[in-house]
Amino acid sequence: MAANPSEKKETRFYYPSEEFAQNAAIPSMDAYWALCKEAEEDYEGFWGKLARENVLWHKPFTKVLDETNPPFYKWFEDGKLNVSYNCLDKNLENGNAEKDAIVFEADDGTVTRLTYRELHKRVCKMANGLKSLGIKKGDRVVIYMAMSAEAIIAMQACARIGATHSVVFGGFSAPSLAERIENAGAVAVITADEQVRGGRYLPLKAIVDDALAMIDDNKVKNVIIYQRTGNEINFVKGRDHWKHELTDSQSDVCEPEWVDAEHPLFILYTSGSTGNPKGAQHSSGGYLLWAIMTMRWTFDIKPDDIFWCTADVGWITGHTYNAYGPLAVGGTIVLFEGVPTFPHAGRFWEMIDKHKVTIFYTAPTAIRSLIKASTEDTMVAPENYDLSSLRLLGSVGEPINPEAWLWFYKHIGKERCPIVDTFWQTETGGHVIAPMPGATPLVPGSCTLPLPGLSISVVDETGQELPNGQGGILVINRPWPSMIRTVWGNDERYKTHYWPEELGGRLYQAGDGAIRDPQTGYFTITGRIDDVLNVSGHALGTMEVESVLSAHPMVAEAAVVGKPDDLTGESICAFVILKKELPEGENAKDVAADLRKWVSREISPIARPKEIRFGANLPKTRSGKIMRRLLRVIARGEEITQDISTLENPAILDQLKKSL
Ligand code: WTA
Repeated sequence: MAANPSEKKETRFYYPSEEFAQNAAIPSMDAYWALCKEAEEDYEGFWGKLARENVLWHKPFTKVLDETNPPFYKWFEDGKLNVSYNCLDKNLENGNAEKDAIVFEADDGTVTRLTYRELHKRVCKMANGLKSLGIKKGDRVVIYMAMSAEAIIAMQACARIGATHSVVFGGFSAPSLAERIENAGAVAVITADEQVRGGRYLPLKAIVDDALAMIDDNKVKNVIIYQRTGNEINFVKGRDHWKHELTDSQSDVCEPEWVDAEHPLFILYTSGSTGNPKGAQHSSGGYLLWAIMTMRWTFDIKPDDIFWCTADVGWITGHTYNAYGPLAVGGTIVLFEGVPTFPHAGRFWEMIDKHKVTIFYTAPTAIRSLIKASTEDTMVAPENYDLSSLRLLGSVGEPINPEAWLWFYKHIGKERCPIVDTFWQTETGGHVIAPMPGATPLVPGSCTLPLPGLSISVVDETGQELPNGQGGILVINRPWPSMIRTVWGNDERYKTHYWPEELGGRLYQAGDGAIRDPQTGYFTITGRIDDVLNVSGHALGTMEVESVLSAHPMVAEAAVVGKPDDLTGESICAFVILKKELPEGENAKDVAADLRKWVSREISPIARPKEIRFGANLPKTRSGKIMRRLLRVIARGEEITQDISTLENPAILDQLKKSL
């Protein structure tokens, strides 16, 4: 049973305003439950109807779901479509031609706008350029670029000709890039001369050169370079092409290549806990459908919205909620090249003000760092900007601790904007658990309920569903349209990793722990399964402890890891970043004692960190995820031997090592 807003209002819930609810795609919990019921009663009928109503099919499908070879499910298999046609041509035909598709703000603040008509032309020229090099349907193209309209144009151009793209985040090192190019068997790489972040020029093309030199079986015949900064690069004749030279003389019309619904639109690599990265392979039809539906349902997108998702196109969030979803619904997106702290930590708020952003979607880690920044310097606080254009906020990537949620709600949304805490993964293609902003009563720290049509449960190690209130493993019970289709080139890994035998082989295991609220059924993600600690036989989510630590008035951010302990099996080591300066000596001891008492009081003495280390920052990936595996090594006092190529701030490791 879930909360019903029409019942007597409970104080722990945050409700959407009447006005918001009235205009929303899903205006009430009754409407939400009606959709859930529809899906439950006729699963294929539900999805089939949505797919017919929301996607333009070149050839309609006759079968919705093929479950004959689990877990290799097929959706809308005999239908044909083109994703780029659905994102661009559709908008030329339905009156959006002169509407801004992309509002791009460069690192230095320069703004460039592209209407749907212009974007369509640019994509067609690029698509024709790719074709002129012999790149065709089914080929893999790696895109190694920074945030730019050009990156989206490259992705859309691949989609237009049926080439499968694999975007590699522009912060990855040459060996990581090489590994991905090789694994994908890419025939071409699209890149830029350099990228600009926080006032600094960083190489891209030079890294591509290094990466290609590392590959034994190199299939890359062409490298296409977008000239971003104009600084000199090494140009390999015959292989390298300037993007402008390749595309300028091309026709701005390119017939889309109609592909099967299951045709791989893209491969996106995601790091496994061990071993090489996994290439999550996504489809065309099912993926597009879910990108569209979640834009409508979770983001309640309207024609006048200005949608800003801060995620880089190198991550799944940037794929679904920058490159595809918003365009497929005729939206206007803001795209930002730079970093939230340059030239000052008020940049996000300044940009919301400047572009009159209405929907703002970002990550908890960004929110927490901006809370810290505005505590230290009131000049960059959100109060200095006009944020009245906002009507909806979103969070993604990790659990948002209630403290950060409340700050976001109060200081950015002015207690007016619902927050959609969206739980999903690279592998799920789009949101799977998230509030419907016009309907779902919100609870800070909970991603609330599954999207309509999705069946999600918490189970034990044998796959048995657990009652609400009991923590366990998060699983998705039935295939859904935007699900990962396989691990590129490795069906076995897909099968064993995501559909484990122990759970019966028919449940998709997300890899996260979760618990449902006894009254509402709301989900709270307790952290990756491998992040669950066991102290004296008590299971504790690292997130649970972190969330409490972060709620302490002195704390900006905290990460918690387990450490083997003779007495208790595992003990808790907490890495804490204070809002103020790094404490030393006696002061550090006092603060640590204070924090221990606090955790004791807020959770239980069992959750009290045995060790507390203070740092200036935490080791994070370039997408902002805390690298707990490195913290585990530091906590154990071992040498770091793992790959740290994805680490944003390697210098922090030394400081943390000395922090004991
Ligand atoms: C975590 C990002 C709690 C989770 C879209 C998941 C979250 C992993 C949330 C996927 C959220 C993402 N609450 N945890 N709202 N969103 N996660 O593939 O552990 O980069 O499994 O996809 O991020 O990360 P990925």
